[in-house]
Amino acid sequence: MAMEAHLHVVFLLVNVIVLGVSGARRETAVGDPGMRRDGLRVAFEAWNFCNEVGQEAPGMGSPRAADCFDLSSSSLKHKVSEADNKLGVGKPFPGLAPGALNNTDLYAVQKELYLGSLCQVEDTPNPWQFWMVMLKNGNYDTTSGLCPRNGKKAPPFGPGRFPCFGKGCMNQPMLFHQQTKLSDGGIMRGSFKGTYDLGSDIGNGLDGISFYEVLWEKKDSNESWVFSHKLKTSKKYPWLMLYLRADATKGFSGGYHYDTRGMLKILPESPNFKVRVTLDVKQGGGPKSQFYLIDIGSCWKNNGAPCDGDVLTDITRYSEMIINPETPAWCSPTNLGNCPPYHITPNDTKIYRNDTANFPYGAYHYYCAPENALFLEKPVSTCDPYSNPQAQELVQLLPHPIWADYGYPTKQGDGWVGDARTWELDVGGLASRLYFYQDPGTPPARRVWGSIDMGTEIFVSDRDEVAEWTISDFDVIFT
Ligand SMILES: *[C@@H]1O[C@H](CO)[C@@H](O)[C@H](O)[C@H]1NC(C)=O
Ligand SMILES: *[C@@H]1O[C@H](CO)[C@@H](O)[C@H](O)[C@H]1NC(C)=O
Ligand SMILES: *[C@@H]1O[C@H](CO)[C@@H](O)[C@H](O)[C@H]1NC(C)=O
Ligand SMILES: *[C@@H]1O[C@H](CO)[C@@H](O)[C@H](O)[C@H]1NC(C)=O
Repeated sequence: MAMEAHLHVVFLLVNVIVLGVSGARRETAVGDPGMRRDGLRVAFEAWNFCNEVGQEAPGMGSPRAADCFDLSSSSLKHKVSEADNKLGVGKPFPGLAPGALNNTDLYAVQKELYLGSLCQVEDTPNPWQFWMVMLKNGNYDTTSGLCPRNGKKAPPFGPGRFPCFGKGCMNQPMLFHQQTKLSDGGIMRGSFKGTYDLGSDIGNGLDGISFYEVLWEKKDSNESWVFSHKLKTSKKYPWLMLYLRADATKGFSGGYHYDTRGMLKILPESPNFKVRVTLDVKQGGGPKSQFYLIDIGSCWKNNGAPCDGDVLTDITRYSEMIINPETPAWCSPTNLGNCPPYHITPNDTKIYRNDTANFPYGAYHYYCAPENALFLEKPVSTCDPYSNPQAQELVQLLPHPIWADYGYPTKQGDGWVGDARTWELDVGGLASRLYFYQDPGTPPARRVWGSIDMGTEIFVSDRDEVAEWTISDFDVIFT
């Protein structure tokens, strides 16, 4: 780990020197800066409530797929076949570990690595594989005992706490893939789409059923790919998440406890990086749509040590800004348990949450601490212990004037429907000053972010809701 970090620094210096002479370009963390590469690399993954597979959907294979190609003399040379995309549990492929063949969870992990090997692009200082479309179903059948509690196997319990319509509510979706094609006008286009409602036909309209779609399109070789997203909830599937992620090309990305593939050829570390992205929200998805204009994920232990895959002590750390203006601040002077213990200003002044004259309550939607942290400051809310493979911590922000120094939305409505913009967010700087839990007296964790993503989490909606948005120009730039 230390050696690798050292190498990163050396490569960075070399690149900075080279670019310093030419001046214009800035060093990037992603394989495809600005989403401009003609030869696209994009993959798909679907997760159940605790970020696993559970059971595959009939005829769909393991919920991992990819669309990767090179453009040469006006034709697309695809690298992943539909047979590869349909690979499902019980079917061997090159490199598959024998123990994973008949286990749906382990099989999906290895399929992602296999698809990554087909898509991989050699680059300096590291190769990279793909952008990742992530889809998650928030239903949890608590009588199944399928999801561990803070990483520990837990017994089943009665229904009521999480949405679930009954047996099978944690199913994986149907996935239809339109492999990227080059049309006569020189436009390249492809998509992943489908529904969780097995047995329904999305060709017959979407009334009463869930739906997701990510369509990518490139009109000109000097322009960005545009990723158009659509997500619809239904009565049976009221809690759905759809994100476009730049994940680590190896190691653990946010929310995983296994080796992943992705787009971050160098892992950005706070404070020295920014995220550039164009976001156009066309339809918000209703009052429960927690639209994240940048969600970042990392992992470290409560003693500050980096994660090593031990789900009993690894803790996923997330921070995200929710830009839906209908999202209220749950943190307030009368609900201190939903606020982090303190806020740190850009000039590094700490403001405690009991300092009611100065604490920016409106800047925090919700803070929750890892449930297995031993030295929590009371009052405190603890995070849901079931919805990740291990314990988690969340710092959820809202647009507020105090974030202005970082280029983040400063008022409700910024970046929302009718306010499409290209953002340059000082994600590294802001994330260096957020409160995250650590045991007292332990050396501060390195805040290395293994995933950076955008999209929405429609959080248990009692109505069928539709969200639609496009993302383009995504880049992570070292500063
Ligand atoms: C996997 O399952 C198949 C079919 O049920 C069985 O024939 C095979 O022995 C199993 N393999 C392993 C490694 O468990
Ligand atoms: C791309 O090139 C076309 C002409 O080929 C030009 O009209 C357009 O402005 C360019 N776009 C960008 C983003 O540079
Ligand atoms: C930090 O900034 C705040 C206003 O944001 C100001 O009141 C305070 O005096 C500053 N502190 C220092 C040490 O500069
Ligand atoms: C506010 O909280 C801090 C940190 O927990 C504590 O040291 C301080 O005594 C509290 N102040 C008041 C007025 O309660």
